[in-house]
Amino acid sequence: MAIRFIKSSKRFVIDTKNTTYAFEIFKRHYLVHLYYGKKKARFEEAERRSLGFSPNVAEYSSKYSPDNLPLEVSFFGSGDYRDTSVCIVGKDGTGVTDFKYKSYRIFEGRQSIDGLPFARPDADSETLEILMQDKVTGCELYLYYTVFPESDVISRHMALVNNGKSSVKLARCMPMELNLDRSDLDMITLWGRHNGECNYQRVQTHHGVQSVGSRRGASSHQYNPFMALCAHTATEERGDAYGFNFVYSGSFLDEVELDQTGRTKALMGMDPATFGYILDAGERFESPEAVMTYSHKGLGQMSRNFHKFVKNNIMPKKALDPHPVVLNTWEACYFDIDEKKLLQFAEKGAAMGFDMLVMDDGWFAERHHDRAALGDWYANKDKFPNGLADFVKNVRSKGIKFGIWIEPEMVNPDSDLYRAHPDWALRASGREPLVSRKQLVLDMSRDEVIDYLIGAFDKVFDGVEIDYFKWDMNRHMCNVGSAALPPERQCEVYFRYIKGVYRLMDWFVKRFPNAVIETCSGGGGRYDLGMMPYGIQIWTSDNTNPYNRTFIQSGAMLAYPATTMSCHVSNPKENMKSLDYRYKVACEGMLGYELNILEMSDEVNAEISRQIAEYRKFEHVMRLGEFYRLASPENTKYSAYYYTTDDASEIVLTVVEKEDCRAGSTKLLKIKAALPDATYTDLYSGKRYAGRELIEGLYIPLMGEPDSARLIYLKKD
Ligand code: GLA
Repeated sequence: MAIRFIKSSKRFVIDTKNTTYAFEIFKRHYLVHLYYGKKKARFEEAERRSLGFSPNVAEYSSKYSPDNLPLEVSFFGSGDYRDTSVCIVGKDGTGVTDFKYKSYRIFEGRQSIDGLPFARPDADSETLEILMQDKVTGCELYLYYTVFPESDVISRHMALVNNGKSSVKLARCMPMELNLDRSDLDMITLWGRHNGECNYQRVQTHHGVQSVGSRRGASSHQYNPFMALCAHTATEERGDAYGFNFVYSGSFLDEVELDQTGRTKALMGMDPATFGYILDAGERFESPEAVMTYSHKGLGQMSRNFHKFVKNNIMPKKALDPHPVVLNTWEACYFDIDEKKLLQFAEKGAAMGFDMLVMDDGWFAERHHDRAALGDWYANKDKFPNGLADFVKNVRSKGIKFGIWIEPEMVNPDSDLYRAHPDWALRASGREPLVSRKQLVLDMSRDEVIDYLIGAFDKVFDGVEIDYFKWDMNRHMCNVGSAALPPERQCEVYFRYIKGVYRLMDWFVKRFPNAVIETCSGGGGRYDLGMMPYGIQIWTSDNTNPYNRTFIQSGAMLAYPATTMSCHVSNPKENMKSLDYRYKVACEGMLGYELNILEMSDEVNAEISRQIAEYRKFEHVMRLGEFYRLASPENTKYSAYYYTTDDASEIVLTVVEKEDCRAGSTKLLKIKAALPDATYTDLYSGKRYAGRELIEGLYIPLMGEPDSARLIYLKKD
């Protein structure tokens, strides 16, 4: 049993394969955290003594105060002065609530979350449901803990039911709260920008609040929802590491506070600046899910826990099948596409061994540039005189599959859709909306907008054999308002928007069961666990420069498996060394190309064919295997990773040098996951190695030159 309630001590104990999480019912009122860490059976109570100026419930004596308790869930206005998980504004307008523990239930598997993606349970998953009640508002709060024993992950989400007589407003909703009785932690986050996502940052926590988040309506390029806390001394292979993430694609907040007692409180959930939700009497609200993992084996194992979880519990099952090696038209042609040109791409691409041609932006309505036509989802007649179905049939007849770009959530002011329905774009009433990339954001919180999109895509893709959608989202939100909601409910728009997006994605998945989706938001602007259940991979960044990609991909793989990472070779400028380098960097994830094969030399195209064939031999190791970081680009002048199959019979090592690497330095790279008694052959050089030798380390000479990278593919004899 993964979840137990110990009656005598009133303790809840949640076990995964290697970790334990425990809390108890305190004074028949509070849920007090006891322990999260390496698997164990006995827990000491953290110091609970109250301090001066920390209020307490009279009947519990002045010894205890919510301000000093490591609570599982905390409430604004009732004694905990730190930021809290929950704030509910009831009829009295104070925002004060005080939920008391009421009951619990443990059940197999899990419940779904209304209108939101959530982690698929394992066969041995269990859920703990806790019910708490607030007397004055009449609200019930349900806390859910679901356990994923194999990947050492526990998820949390909450539901609020308004059983009172008047409406309440949920003003703060942070489904993950974790209080750790320690002050020796670093906070790791991924910051960035468009064209430069997922930069690694590790800083010491200090007294006060440290946070990252998004109020952009998307999880954003600027801060990824992933966050880790680790001991100051934690390394790649050793030390305590706690990882957190959020199964949600909209605005969020990750927060860490080192408080007056030297304890650390972590919160993860909805960004309070862009979230609020009104529940009328009898209504129920369900929050997105947050997930956490712990490892005492450092950051490497934390990443591997999350990688396993994302592959097994978040991504669709088809993401584990081979991903198509695509030829994408964007960096090859931008908007300059038509049937004739694309058929040439298809023919040549098929001959070169590509799996799929992806027709990017520019195929619909008057979309000849980025200033017009988003929202008008019909194929341009001049570019496709015989229609889309006929064109796609011709593409496929060349022996290559077909993918297409869409950006459903957006509208250009210069579009028929906007001219017909200006109120379908998000805008604060009475104000001119701000454009970004000359586009506005459709009000996806409105059912009729989603219904329109469903109708439009149903029509344009009816009878068209599409294997792949690239689902893009190319701006963030501001001046947000919905013409369909009353003033008091405008705070719900961001959340309702994301639910609308998920509804449309669900429809796509069901309507086109044979197609897969690659999600994208100007590259990695929605690189999150909320998108991953719908697609097989995410376009990691619009930046395809391999030096920059080295950092972006390294950051992404801290939290997400290589399977999620769409990596393209672009623009090698006819330089074979650069082509090789770009290819090897792209091999860190799921390989694709976006370059003009019609204009490349025969030599370059022949090399690309060779690369595709070569990649197919080992891509399963990246796609399905475990990931080990030997050197990360943020700390060293090169990056070195290896990926192994579960049984360690195949290992791929990638070593990528950055521009300023000094020549002549030789690195000892230890492949500790190798089987000591086995013998491996490098399929590139034919060289044989004893497993023990690999564990002790391979000496890899660095070239010290730009555009130098190596792949070593070791297969057990
Ligand atoms: C975004 C994507 C690109 C491309 C363009 C098309 O920037 O990230 O890959 O699809 O849009 O407009």
